[in-house]
Amino acid sequence: MAKKSVFDFYDMKRRGEKITFLTAYDFPMAVFEEQEGIDMILVGDSVGMVVYGYPGTIPVTMEQMIYHAEAVRRGASNVFLIGDMPFLSYQKSIEDAVANAGRFYKEAGVDAIKLEGGKRVIPQIRAIVDSGMVVMGHIGLTPQSSAQLGGFKPQGNTAEAAITLLDDAKAVEEAGAALLLVEGVPPETGKIITEALRIPVIGIGAGPYCDGQVLIVSDMIGLFEVFTPKFVKKYANVAGVIREALREWSIEVREGKFPTPEHCYKMKAGEAEKLDEMLKRYLGNTTNT
Ligand code: KIV
Repeated sequence: MAKKSVFDFYDMKRRGEKITFLTAYDFPMAVFEEQEGIDMILVGDSVGMVVYGYPGTIPVTMEQMIYHAEAVRRGASNVFLIGDMPFLSYQKSIEDAVANAGRFYKEAGVDAIKLEGGKRVIPQIRAIVDSGMVVMGHIGLTPQSSAQLGGFKPQGNTAEAAITLLDDAKAVEEAGAALLLVEGVPPETGKIITEALRIPVIGIGAGPYCDGQVLIVSDMIGLFEVFTPKFVKKYANVAGVIREALREWSIEVREGKFPTPEHCYKMKAGEAEKLDEMLKRYLGNTTNT
């Protein structure tokens, strides 16, 4: 299947066809997602929590993001890939924002970058788009500014807050963003934003009316257990499968049941007998001295 472009996503929005979008952080998961026909992959700064064990996304660096984006690109060369701009890679200056977005393109071969914020990041969005790159905006619950939001709390849950978010969404679209992610808002807010925008709106915890859905893959496969947001549905219990495999392996090792001959290399024909003879001579010599 040919790699989708933003134009395919516009067509999908027009046709009412839902867009599937998942995070990935490494080669094997990228391979699985490409094999299963996922439309877009995000190398999210959620890597900080689900791979590095940080309490949030703030410590994540550009180096870490590039490293994971390169691995994901190797696993999914045919999927629309988005690199997530980590904290302080775009907030300090427009020059920084363009340079760091460019690093994702040059070093990891992404198709777009994502950055958090509404009106306050409009100059950065404009500059990145003017440099020829594709931008996905991210509004609502924006984890990099969760301290200002009072934690990982739902947003846009009053009529006034919903209109403020709609205003942000329109500003992001007008600045040239080609895609928008909306996180942690009631379905009503997700709906008005999706209907008001020409560009595809992907939701995470934003209800069923968005043009597409994204989840953190480690949450939806049941791998990451530190905390699970309300909006996550677990489609598998991978942590349980892993724990079971580790338990079984350690029991078999302790009981001498692993490895069995099928997991052992064979000596060449006649060499085992020869080894016995040589060993006898060797041990005879060493005990004499
Ligand atoms: O970093 C991330 O994984 C995200 C999610 C909200 C999709 O931005």
